[in-house]
Amino acid sequence: MQTRAAILDGVGQDWKVETITLDPPKAGEVVLELVGSGLCHSDEHLLTGDMVLEAATAAELGLEQFPIIGGHEGAGKVVEVGPGVTSLEVGDHVVLGFIPSCGRCPSCSTGKQNLCDLGAFLLAGRQVTDLTARHHRHDGSDLGIMCCIGTFGEHTVVSEASCIKIEKDIPLDKAALVGCGVTTGWGSSTYAADVQSGETVVIVGCGGVGMNAVQGAAMAGAAHVIAVDPVEFKREQSQVFGATHTAASLEEATALVMDLTWGQMADKAVITVGEGDGTLIAPTMAIIGKGGRVVHTSVAPINDTEVNMSLFDLTLMQKELVGSIFGSANPRRDIPRLLRMYQEGRLKLDELITNTYTLDDINVGYQAMRDGENIRGMVMYDHA
Ligand SMILES: NC(=O)c1ccc[n+]([C@@H]2O[C@H](COP(=O)([O-])OP(=O)(O)OC[C@H]3O[C@@H](n4cnc5c(N)ncnc54)[C@H](O)[C@@H]3O)[C@@H](O)[C@H]2O)c1
Ligand SMILES: [Zn+2]
Ligand SMILES: [Zn+2]
Repeated sequence: MQTRAAILDGVGQDWKVETITLDPPKAGEVVLELVGSGLCHSDEHLLTGDMVLEAATAAELGLEQFPIIGGHEGAGKVVEVGPGVTSLEVGDHVVLGFIPSCGRCPSCSTGKQNLCDLGAFLLAGRQVTDLTARHHRHDGSDLGIMCCIGTFGEHTVVSEASCIKIEKDIPLDKAALVGCGVTTGWGSSTYAADVQSGETVVIVGCGGVGMNAVQGAAMAGAAHVIAVDPVEFKREQSQVFGATHTAASLEEATALVMDLTWGQMADKAVITVGEGDGTLIAPTMAIIGKGGRVVHTSVAPINDTEVNMSLFDLTLMQKELVGSIFGSANPRRDIPRLLRMYQEGRLKLDELITNTYTLDDINVGYQAMRDGENIRGMVMYDHA
């Protein structure tokens, strides 16, 4: 079938919207009609080169990262199922997990679906079922897909392993955000930081992911949730999601936390800035107190290895610095659970979507993200 998708041909380019060809699904795959896609900062890392392997490394691994259909925060309806698909049928509504979960590997089978072995293929750009492409340009050449799903397309072909079936009365546009940003931010606070009632929590960077870390910390019962962002609009909005205090910089937040905690400092901090940066680690480690934990959720440039921090402080204050992918959540349990909380009015999703764009205007949407105008921007598809 023919559909339209936004393609990135290389670092530093704009997204190009083209008509593409989708092959029928092979074994274990389904075709989806997507409602739209969130514009997560992770796709921007392809454009900046932050998430792009050096040519020699890519060649060694046999990977071609470009051209690629971006997008990994989507939801839609199943319109065709391939042979052997047992968990889905035509008409089902699904959220796409940005990491597939097979249910059978050592990680999946021990309650760490976010670490599923199929995650090894996240940068491969091909179907996880057989590592070949179903997406092709008009000349027949293969197109990659971001995170095994490629949600910047009106339709896509994905493995059953990327699909999480949801109730049909949940609005699919809101559900799409739970495929990455919501679960990642919320889980960064509730699971990775393990926020407890009464704690003081600092969220550094309040975009689509960070705002959900604010929301997760507040839901977990934190007494103080300090939202740190240089953009005034983000600081204002963070209060809608449960921030009790805001600060424009880590420096300002440090003085505030010192005051709020009578010098004991924060229990937890979560780093969700747009681009991970080694120079943010020392000041964030300094904002937590004895026995505290910093969670690093941001994606940093793939070749960056420099981090400055006090190892003396790490040991003597028994602090922790941990990474987190997909909010350390189990997408097959947590995505339906978060959506139930949305339906019951306890999780905010509507308020996350600041602006929507047509697929043709995807570059406008990304510029708005760079300019700090959106908590989350979304491209919405017209299937009329
Ligand atoms: N670990 C994961 O599983 C996972 C999943 C999704 C996204 N991410 C990553 O999380 C990060 C955030 O993504 P997003 O979509 O929310 O991005 P975003 O661009 O929507 O938000 C980033 C926010 O950080 C703020 N910021 C920038 N520099 C700052 C600083 N020095 N101090 C405080 N705030 C600062 C910006 O103003 C913005 O509000 C990205 O690096 C993204 O790639 C990680
Ligand atoms: Zn994302
Ligand atoms: Zn698995």
